[in-house]
Amino acid sequence: MLVMERVRDIQRACRDIKALGDTIGFVPTMGAFHEGHLSLIRAAREECDKVVVSIFVNPTQFGPAEDFQSYPRDLENDKKAAENEGVDLIFAPTSREMYPLGFCTEVEVKGDITSRLCGASREGHFKGVTTVVNKLMNIVGPDIAYFGMKDAQQALVIKRMVKDLNMPVNVRTMPVVREEDGLAMSSRNINLSDREREQALNIYKALKTAERMAREGAGSAGPIRSAAMDILSQGKDVTVEYVEIADPDTLDPISEISGEALMLVAARVGETRLIDNIVLEREENRAR
Ligand code: PAF
Repeated sequence: MLVMERVRDIQRACRDIKALGDTIGFVPTMGAFHEGHLSLIRAAREECDKVVVSIFVNPTQFGPAEDFQSYPRDLENDKKAAENEGVDLIFAPTSREMYPLGFCTEVEVKGDITSRLCGASREGHFKGVTTVVNKLMNIVGPDIAYFGMKDAQQALVIKRMVKDLNMPVNVRTMPVVREEDGLAMSSRNINLSDREREQALNIYKALKTAERMAREGAGSAGPIRSAAMDILSQGKDVTVEYVEIADPDTLDPISEISGEALMLVAARVGETRLIDNIVLEREENRAR
């Protein structure tokens, strides 16, 4: 496994792979690997000849009051884990390498898809994500790129960008990976105190309650959201940012669940912002 910091080096290595006719599976990450990242790497390993992983805590997707400084970083461990999973190339650039002096281009997906949910509270976040993912895709030139569904809105925004800009890459999304008790894996989980970790579980409990209510026939979003809010508010250190039930393809809010719906939650537990989601489906739809 090779680790590269320079754009020109990884670009050349990726060009060489493609010249041999091999396919590239690409997993863009911000590092501090957990099983969620490894599931993406394993999917890439299975589907593609070569696996390229980027590790870059992208400053432009963090707001000034957000946790860029305290975002977990563990490059040495990430390298070992990547090596174990059979990764071929790691791209771990510095900020200066990605955003050299004079850098002044941004890629922005406009409209409801980026302005609502996480976009409402994290101004400029998705613009930072789409700009860096666009750059990374241009640098690596992957056949398939892999993203986790914990960041459901991010995955949709990236799919939109890829489609709108005719980017020659397939985007695969992989399911949320959870701890044994159900908490969605996130690099930020290690910033939770024991007490916060316990309360963070209410996010999963709220989602599971919503899932059960929908399965048992509850069609209106209102009561399902209220039940979820009740569970979330039991955690003293939990501040809910949003609880929404939305169309899984457009993220338009849904008031009556007929087909599949996505329930999305963002909450701050202490200082740590967590997001999670689950698919809601009524029993009668599942039978069809
Ligand atoms: O999901 C992430 O880890 C990041 O938002 C991504 C896609 C690597 C862009 O920095």
